[in-house]
Amino acid sequence: MFNTMTVTKAAGALIGALLFLMLANWMASSLYHVGSAEHGEGEEVAQAYAIPVEEAGGEEEAVEEEIDFAALLASADAAAGEQGFGKCRACHKLDGTDGVGPHLNGVVGRAVAGVEGFNYSAGMVEHAAVDPAWTPEALQAFLADPKGYVPGTKMSFAGIDDPQDRADIVAYLQAQP
Ligand code: HEC
Repeated sequence: MFNTMTVTKAAGALIGALLFLMLANWMASSLYHVGSAEHGEGEEVAQAYAIPVEEAGGEEEAVEEEIDFAALLASADAAAGEQGFGKCRACHKLDGTDGVGPHLNGVVGRAVAGVEGFNYSAGMVEHAAVDPAWTPEALQAFLADPKGYVPGTKMSFAGIDDPQDRADIVAYLQAQP
């Protein structure tokens, strides 16, 4: 026989179960909410990261541009440049004959990929179409990062970090006939 107590217990159990379901449902949805909010924030965070990275890139470019190469060249030391040219001698000569690299007589102001008979890389030939002359500025940019400045170049040289060292070498080359 059902008595009041049994009914109350059954009802209690039912309500308890319902409450549990509601709670579980609420928790699930609040979890889901937190999750989706996190996604939203995640995207914003990703953007917030992207902006400083862009700024950092911009600053780096600004620093590169800040080098007043003309001024460095004007006060460059050609004798120090002759020493610096030691890094190039394994591949470049200054007697009008080619080695691993083309001779560099009169290279300042010379046509890019302009030595007849030298087998330039496709990268250097393409570069000549865009930027046809070795101005002091072009030379220093190339010497800073050969493969960055002329993609595909076959000049296996890591580059010279110090702008003053580059200026000295350009000054030395400029003084060569
Ligand atoms: C390991 C050999 C090697 C070294 C070291 C090297 N070069 Fe080169 N260089 C080459 C080669 C090879 C080329 C031809 C590149 C091409 O065709 O892509 C070249 C090309 C060049 C050019 C372009 C010439 C032209 O006619 O367009 C210049 C300028 C130059 N080098 C300067 C230098 C200077 C200055 C140094 C030293 C700081 C140097 N190189 C060190 C091998 C070298």
